[in-house]
Amino acid sequence: MWSLKLPVLLTLLSAPLLALSALDPSSPVLAGPITEHCIEGAKHAGEPVGTNVTIADVPTYLSEPTTPPSDEKKKVLLFFSDIYSPFYVNNQLLQDYFASEGFNVVGIDYFFGDPIQAHDGQPGFNMTAWFNKSREQAERALPGWIEAVRTKYGADAKYAAVGYCFGAPYALEISATDKVVAGAFAHPSGLVEAHFSNLTKPLLLSCAETDSSFPTASLRRAVDILAGRKATYHLQVFSGVSHGFATRADPNDANAVWAKEESARSVVGWFNRFSK
Ligand SMILES: *[C@@H]1O[C@H](CO)[C@@H](O)[C@H](O)[C@H]1NC(C)=O
Ligand SMILES: *[C@@H]1O[C@H](CO)[C@@H](O)[C@H](O)[C@H]1NC(C)=O
Ligand SMILES: *[C@@H]1O[C@H](CO)[C@@H](O)[C@H](O)[C@H]1NC(C)=O
Ligand SMILES: *[C@@H]1O[C@H](CO)[C@@H](O)[C@H](O)[C@H]1NC(C)=O
Repeated sequence: MWSLKLPVLLTLLSAPLLALSALDPSSPVLAGPITEHCIEGAKHAGEPVGTNVTIADVPTYLSEPTTPPSDEKKKVLLFFSDIYSPFYVNNQLLQDYFASEGFNVVGIDYFFGDPIQAHDGQPGFNMTAWFNKSREQAERALPGWIEAVRTKYGADAKYAAVGYCFGAPYALEISATDKVVAGAFAHPSGLVEAHFSNLTKPLLLSCAETDSSFPTASLRRAVDILAGRKATYHLQVFSGVSHGFATRADPNDANAVWAKEESARSVVGWFNRFSK
């Protein structure tokens, strides 16, 4: 099993990182900031088939279907990655899988070439400052990038958004608008109750049984909010896995591999359902 060696970072992480100041200070926190569980996991092997493009001045991983389905509207998947960025091989392979299922996948690099693994083993690395910088960059880049993606594929296309860990709040925020038909997240961080009470589009919650960032009590509260608002949602919880399972599963652990693959299949099924 491969994992980053970030001793300095892990020491820093033992203290609470950062208040979710930029979010919604009046709304209770449901998924906390980045923890060591957002870093742990295995590196996957494979040959990515996507390309590196620039959309609205933001580096973007682009993976498109080789044989676009002709009988339906163009489907576009906005991919909001974990802290490894959309250019990390695990995330590239996941985006390629979505493309193989007929989606035009665009993964925004809101880290601008400075993902967490660039700091592996770096003495004195300040995780809080990096995280804060990354959130600010993301919040600044996203509105223009989303508009440019919608211009690229047109008003007729069906858009959906999936967010992993760091990317989850962006999937929820766009799912409170008419810019997507549905949203999804897996093992989120950085969420407050208002992310769920603001939601207007269907939501898939793909969750780990053990998640220090999005613990069971938060998950139940989120579902209570959604059910109370008669929102359209689907909750899946995978046993025997923890935060990170959908992007960094250990390839030698059959249960973890199944959960990762089933999570991705569910995202495809969920978005197909609302892209008709
Ligand atoms: C993507 O392309 C840009 C511009 O050519 C380059 O600076 C960047 O390093 C590339 N990123 C990756 C992950 O290949
Ligand atoms: C790390 O960065 C944060 C935010 O910029 C700052 O408040 C803190 O003092 C820094 N910590 C260290 C050890 O430099
Ligand atoms: C980053 O830090 C600055 C200064 O401490 C603060 O004003 C800002 O809200 C922080 N940004 C995020 C995204 O947390
Ligand atoms: C929820 O919606 C309100 C009203 O538009 C907005 O001010 C707030 O920032 C939103 N909260 C989140 C977490 O998106």
